[in-house]
Amino acid sequence: MPIDGKLRIAAVGDLHCRLGKHGNYRRLVDAVNEQGCDALLLCGDLTDHGHVDEAKLLAEALSGVRAKKIGVLGNHDFEAGKSDEICAVLAEGGIHILDGDHYELKGHMVGFAGAKGFGGGFDRATLQGFGEEGIKGFVHEAVQEALKLETALLRVDAPIKIAITHYSPVRDTVIGENPEIFPFLGSSRLSEPIDHHRPTMCFHGHAHYGTMEGRTLGGVPVYNVALPLLRRDHPDRRFFMVDIPLPEGFHAPPSERPGAVVTPADLHAEHESG
Ligand SMILES: [Fe+2]
Ligand SMILES: [Fe+2]
Repeated sequence: MPIDGKLRIAAVGDLHCRLGKHGNYRRLVDAVNEQGCDALLLCGDLTDHGHVDEAKLLAEALSGVRAKKIGVLGNHDFEAGKSDEICAVLAEGGIHILDGDHYELKGHMVGFAGAKGFGGGFDRATLQGFGEEGIKGFVHEAVQEALKLETALLRVDAPIKIAITHYSPVRDTVIGENPEIFPFLGSSRLSEPIDHHRPTMCFHGHAHYGTMEGRTLGGVPVYNVALPLLRRDHPDRRFFMVDIPLPEGFHAPPSERPGAVVTPADLHAEHESG
C-alpha cells in the first residue's frame, strides 16, 4: 500500500531486458509492491538491443507493479531503429515514456519531467559545435535533448518536480568510469535547465560504473541509478528508493493518495537506498 504523507519513489536504470530474462524481474516487482512505492522510474536502456520483443517482455514482466511506471528510453533502446514501436509496446503495458514531456501524480503535487539526454562532456570540456558537420550534428543532438528537458520542466506546474534522463547531467555521477568515455556518458548541457527550474532531484542511468550521488553546480541532487552500479556493493538491490514528504493538509483527488513538498535539505536527509 502507498504510504500516507509521502511520495515514495523507486528508481532504476539499465535493466537491459533481453529474451530469456523474464524471471529476473519477479523480485523487482515484489519489492516495489512490498515497499508501497507510488512511482517506479525507469531511467533508460530498458532493452538490451532495442528489439520490440525485448520491450514486450519487459512490459509483461512489470505488469504486476502497482506503482505508476514512468521512464525514458536509453541509447540501447534505439539500436534497432524501433524506438517508436518500443514506446508503443511499453505504453500498452502501462509504462509512460517521457521524451520532452511530463507526467503528474498526487493531483498536481508531483510532476516528472523526462528526456533521454545525450553526450558531449562536462563543464569546461563540453564539446562545442565547431568544425566538421559530424561534430556539429553531435552537438546539435545534445542541445536538442537539453531543450526537451527544458520544455518538460517548464510544463510541470507542480511544487515537486523530478527530472529523469538516461545520460548524466553532471560529471560527479560518472566518476568511476574510464575518463576517456566521459563525453559519451552525459552532458553539462542537461544541467542548465535543471539549475534553472530546480527540480527536487534528478535520476539518470547509463554510467554503469559511475558514482551514485552528485549535485549540479546549483546544488540540485543527482542520482545515478544504473542497476549494475546499484548492485556493485549490494548484489540484492533492485532499485534506489527515496521518500519525499508531502505537505500537511494536502488533499489528493479521490483516485490518489495525499503527497507533499520538501526543502532540498530535508530531502537529502530523507533519502535512503533500497
Ligand atoms: Fe546501460
Ligand atoms: Fe546507456
